[in-house]
Amino acid sequence: MARVLVTRRLPGGLDPLIHAGHELVQADDDRAFTHGAIVEQASGVDAIVCLLTDRIDDAVLTAGTPRLKVVATVAVGYDNIDLAAAAAHGITVCNTPGVLDDTTADLAFLLILAAARLVWEAESDLRAGKWPGWDIDQYLGRDVHGALLGVVGFGRIGQAVARRAAGFGMEVLHHTTHDTGMPGWRGDLDELLADSDVVTLHVPLTAETRHLIDARRLALMKRDAVLVNTSRGPVVDEEALAGALEEGTIFAAGLDVYEREPEVHPRLLAAPRTVLFPHIGSASLATRTRMARVAAENVVAVLAGEGPRNPVPGG
Ligand code: DGY
Repeated sequence: MARVLVTRRLPGGLDPLIHAGHELVQADDDRAFTHGAIVEQASGVDAIVCLLTDRIDDAVLTAGTPRLKVVATVAVGYDNIDLAAAAAHGITVCNTPGVLDDTTADLAFLLILAAARLVWEAESDLRAGKWPGWDIDQYLGRDVHGALLGVVGFGRIGQAVARRAAGFGMEVLHHTTHDTGMPGWRGDLDELLADSDVVTLHVPLTAETRHLIDARRLALMKRDAVLVNTSRGPVVDEEALAGALEEGTIFAAGLDVYEREPEVHPRLLAAPRTVLFPHIGSASLATRTRMARVAAENVVAVLAGEGPRNPVPGG
């Protein structure tokens, strides 16, 4: 029997750990473990099931050595984990790819529609009693059907968004640094940004993708373009995006992720034609439960001496 630290109460999905007879180390209440508490617990556990909000850095991994064998994050993104330190300590890192693709793609499409059709302005006015009644020139958004969608990053989630776009009669281009060999591939991101009516971001956060969308690239976009980000906040330079929205050099933005969560840049909060969600891309009960189960299955597999099912590249 092994000890598994679970840094937060999960909505279910831990049954593989329980069936395997492992002991769960969890807080008595629903509070998340602090970084200090994770460091403190790490030396006494064989595995950690963590969330994307937990910083699993060298301090945690060093404290866990030599007992800690695996860190399984309940997320597809793993930029919160120091992969180099994990590799140096021989600790396996796993994530939960696949099970959240459609839920996240649904939300990306919701942001595309909501931002393009100025839903936030319209609903806020209505709720605040500021809607004077129907008029011909109110809340004039831009059409999504027939628009050209530029998908930046074309993994499972990007492709799931592209499938939804087909149902809206959108033409779809995609950008990745390697040639996907699929129709609509553009190797030049600048070109894709300049041509697209709607741009949706689906790249992992790495040193290369930090501020991928900066002031220069925002300036390449069409004045009536919509930018949507459901990947990681730091992929977009928020200061530059706020400026583009304020000056009207792009039409609208829909964001689910932020550079310094849970803080949201005050200029984005005040920016026009902007829809802001609190990082809920994968937030359905079924999907979050599936994500927890995948994390649990990865831990069980590693502790049983089998290979991890979803090792992260370089982890
Ligand atoms: C992930 O899994 O990385 C998502 O951001 C969670 O919604």
